[in-house]
Amino acid sequence: MSSDDFIVTPWHVEGKIDYNKLIKKFGTEKISRQLLNTIEKIAGESHFMLRRGIFFSHRDLTRTLNDYKKGNKFFLYTGRGPSGHTHIGHLVPWVFAKWLQDKFKTNMYFQLTDDEKFFAKSKLTLEDANKFAYENALDFIALGFKPNNTKIIIDTKNIESLYPIAAKFAKKINFSNTKAVFGFTNQTNVGMIFYTSLQSAPCFLEDRPVLIPLGVDQDPHFRITRDIAPKLGLPKPALIHNIMIPSLLGTGGKMSASDDNSTIYTTDTPEVVKKKINKYAFSGGQPTIEEHRKKGGNPDVDISYQYLRIFFEPDDKKLKKLHDDYKSGKLLTGELKSILIEKINKFLKKHQQEREKARDKVDKYMFK
Ligand code: TRP
Repeated sequence: MSSDDFIVTPWHVEGKIDYNKLIKKFGTEKISRQLLNTIEKIAGESHFMLRRGIFFSHRDLTRTLNDYKKGNKFFLYTGRGPSGHTHIGHLVPWVFAKWLQDKFKTNMYFQLTDDEKFFAKSKLTLEDANKFAYENALDFIALGFKPNNTKIIIDTKNIESLYPIAAKFAKKINFSNTKAVFGFTNQTNVGMIFYTSLQSAPCFLEDRPVLIPLGVDQDPHFRITRDIAPKLGLPKPALIHNIMIPSLLGTGGKMSASDDNSTIYTTDTPEVVKKKINKYAFSGGQPTIEEHRKKGGNPDVDISYQYLRIFFEPDDKKLKKLHDDYKSGKLLTGELKSILIEKINKFLKKHQQEREKARDKVDKYMFK
């Protein structure tokens, strides 16, 4: 793979992603200025993740919003493959989904795919994936979702509700389709081959169209769902895609829940956060202070700056000041890191409290 090549599939992300190229490759649409205005008009405010292009691409969002304006509501759906503890990168689409839910007053379904991760990870037992599903559910609830309009689905538990829909999809997906989309081989287990049908199922839990906020790596599943839906007389799901959240190490790829050092978990203590950022967060700064003062840093590759941009500094003015000061050399890497550490720890303190409270409420959210 050459340095400007990249790979994006649901199970493998590698290289430095060129998002404009990815839009062409996947055949999605870039979120235009006009579409941003439409969202803002309906929502009554804009969201920093939209303004900054963290959500950058979509399928059929224009149609969904036009229908909404005419009084035809949609519902929301997203999900998580519970292969380990939740890390801060996972929270990006969920926080945005919460905003959408509040602004558009919709129901929300959250799918935890313990079966998928069991199929995909050779060392993960089904029992452990299921335990992580419950742990991950706590993080979702901690973000403020309410049980009256939010339901959590766990594949192995809710299979009765999902299976009739999944079966209809499975009949329309042939092996050569999935092979072409996901690069499956003769060694791929049949659970993986069937899996797209199950991820499709929650799109049709309500008798109205769905909008899915998701990491762009998940798009291939729904490309298949969208091809098949009309053949079954069902509406095509609409999608809004976020960029992949870079790992602390900054070397392309996404933050992965299976590499401790490249990841900040929502369960990390303040000391661990401090240590990880200081030790591992890739720096766009210069090797010495003198050089940094003279030449300045590069915020585009600096992971601390990127985390502030993506999640931890919603205030545009403050962010711009950090950007400009870092670029000019006024702000040092160590200083930028301590700003980020403080923001993450402040966020996690509240999150961890809410997460513990969620243990007693989780039952109310479970899809029945
Ligand atoms: N496959 C996703 C993952 O590995 C989990 C998932 C299930 C999902 N349904 C979804 C993600 C809908 C986004 C939208 O994380």
